[in-house]
Amino acid sequence: TPIAELINSLPKAELHLHIEGTLEPELMMSLATKHDIALPYSTIDDVRSAYNFDNLQSFLDLYYLGASVLRDEDDFYRLMWDYLCKCKEDNVVHVEMMFDPQTHTERGIGFEVFMPGFTRAMHQAEQEWGQSSLLIMSFLRHLSEDSAFETLDAAMPYLPMIAAVGLDSSELGNPPEKFARVFAKSKSLGLLRVAHAGEEGPAEYIWSALNELDVHRIDHGVRSVEDTQLMTHLASKQMPLTVCPLSNIKLCVFDKMVDHNILTLLDAGLLVTVNADDPSYFGGYLNDNYRALAANLPITHEQVRTLAENSFKASFLDDVQKAHWL
Ligand code: ADE
Ligand code: ZN
Repeated sequence: TPIAELINSLPKAELHLHIEGTLEPELMMSLATKHDIALPYSTIDDVRSAYNFDNLQSFLDLYYLGASVLRDEDDFYRLMWDYLCKCKEDNVVHVEMMFDPQTHTERGIGFEVFMPGFTRAMHQAEQEWGQSSLLIMSFLRHLSEDSAFETLDAAMPYLPMIAAVGLDSSELGNPPEKFARVFAKSKSLGLLRVAHAGEEGPAEYIWSALNELDVHRIDHGVRSVEDTQLMTHLASKQMPLTVCPLSNIKLCVFDKMVDHNILTLLDAGLLVTVNADDPSYFGGYLNDNYRALAANLPITHEQVRTLAENSFKASFLDDVQKAHWL
């Protein structure tokens, strides 16, 4: 089989996906009109041509701006529904999605607005085609520890709908240990844990996510190659890395896809997965990410199968559910 067919036909899980990062320019413009919100774009092409980023922060500025059009429950429903339809198309049978409550609560939109919108779409997709999905509540690391604690407090009535907590936004200068106490509290509430580390930040931040936040996965983690002891540790623990190839190119973590280190990580025995991160900003959904690897790196059919299998191994599914896909 051609590799493109293999990519389409393999059942996959997606483990690193920001739901706010699936906001397509078309929906952004239509919600701006619906709510009479002024955006610095006149056309959909304007939006797309603004998506040229120099680094993580230049992306985050436009990501938070884009999210400002999400106002009522239907907006959050529509955002989630569109993404889950894409999962069906890409054969993404299970997804663990991050959402950023503070992106919305900071502008006066509470859990009572976005949670029912998200969960209504998730239940509908589950009923209509058996879509499996869960939510990861991600704290914005450029905000304070107090703000993260307030967010956890506000989430209390919704904890049954939340599987895990995460940590995202501006990495440099906001090391994992800033949130050690929030993650400890989250753990005591029964929440699982992930954190972005080693995307722009150094390998040290990966150590600190492991040791101070007690995470089950590292989001990105591509800078682990700078620390051989860390590489050995990640391999021996089979600690998953949720790697996002198109994201890494758009945010200049690597110059070109041919320079991406994902095969180095795989060859070193790490539990690597492929993910889309913020597909509408980075130019592709999950299968686009696999195709970009196939087009630029000497990746084999066997490695593509391994990456898809790893996505289930690294998931929060239970052993019976994993066995169904492995
Ligand atoms: N928020 C959304 N996408 C992100 C990324 N790739 N890194 C950090 N924060 C994010
Ligand atoms: Zn991310």
